[in-house]
Amino acid sequence: MNVLVTGGAGYIGSVICDRLIDEGHHVVVYDNMSKGHRDAVPAEAVLVEADLLDADAVKTTIRNHEIDAVVHMAASSLVGESMSRPEKYYRNNLWTSLGLIEAMTFSGVSRIVLSSTAAVYGNAARQPIEEHHETSPTNPYGETKLAVERALHWHSLAHGMQYVALRYFNAAGATRMRGERHSPETHLIPLVLEAAAEGRAVSVFGADYPTPDGTCVRDYVHVSDLARAHVKALDALGGGVTAATYNLGYGRGYSVRQVIDAAERVTGRPIRVEVQPRRPGDPAVLVASAERIRAELGWTPEYTLDDIVGSAWEWMRDRGSPQAKEARYSAQPHAH
Ligand code: UFG
Repeated sequence: MNVLVTGGAGYIGSVICDRLIDEGHHVVVYDNMSKGHRDAVPAEAVLVEADLLDADAVKTTIRNHEIDAVVHMAASSLVGESMSRPEKYYRNNLWTSLGLIEAMTFSGVSRIVLSSTAAVYGNAARQPIEEHHETSPTNPYGETKLAVERALHWHSLAHGMQYVALRYFNAAGATRMRGERHSPETHLIPLVLEAAAEGRAVSVFGADYPTPDGTCVRDYVHVSDLARAHVKALDALGGGVTAATYNLGYGRGYSVRQVIDAAERVTGRPIRVEVQPRRPGDPAVLVASAERIRAELGWTPEYTLDDIVGSAWEWMRDRGSPQAKEARYSAQPHAH
């Protein structure tokens, strides 16, 4: 299939592109490069450097490349930033998505896989969170992603749009070729590893949450497992699924302190901690129930927390070296 991947030059997008290409798809990356990297676009993919706010460019791309399906990743995705700049999230996440959906409807493209988020749940009453749990976002990031999910629901009824919304929990880890390169970096695992590498302290945002050790609990998913789920979602759309929402997590949670412990194990270095005030918008616990995607798409995760942290550490150390660029990733996940 000809697959348009919006945000395909980003961290998760680039791993998804690799996977789609491995599965025989023709990939067109659509990215405005605000966060993406040109060298993260696989050589086999076409890169269209344009903004989703440019409705004509979206329509032209869909037509010129005879797009069959869309993986829609492009978004702003920082919980903390969304609290201080909600307008950015409404524009970059909701407005752009509505334009994309309209362009797809106009062009007769009816299959889309949406990158959604666990942030749609907010402070969930029950853990692990099942997909039918009430949604109550605690930040504009989750709110705008939920609005896109709802828009897809109504477009499926009105226009036959077929969609799978994947609610990511905490994507992390690296392949040999690709890893996190955010600027500034705000995510826990790369920051903990940077702290280990440089002998600095890592900030822990809040140690007074109602969790066993007082720090926030999250469900960390390896980016390769995440990419595999997208291929399965696309296959499902081709196989009769018309509207589905899945959590993309492992069903196990780790606290910030447990992640730091894992980083100490993996790096063999002690990591100092500085407890800071809570970060606005952070729910205490976000752990997925992964049962639905396991049952309906046959997706089972392969990587442990130590694999995730270990792959990110390896990538950080190899970054830029010729060995890191010579071949596609071939690391073996641990059986568990
Ligand atoms: N944290 C720290 N110190 C840091 C950075 C983070 O203690 O220096 C904590 C955060 O407060 C949070 C946890 O580590 O409790 C994870 O934080 P991240 O920033 O790595 O990830 P988030 O949980 O905030 O958000 C991520 C994605 C979102 C997605 C969400 C879903 O960035 O896009 O997961 O769970 F919505």
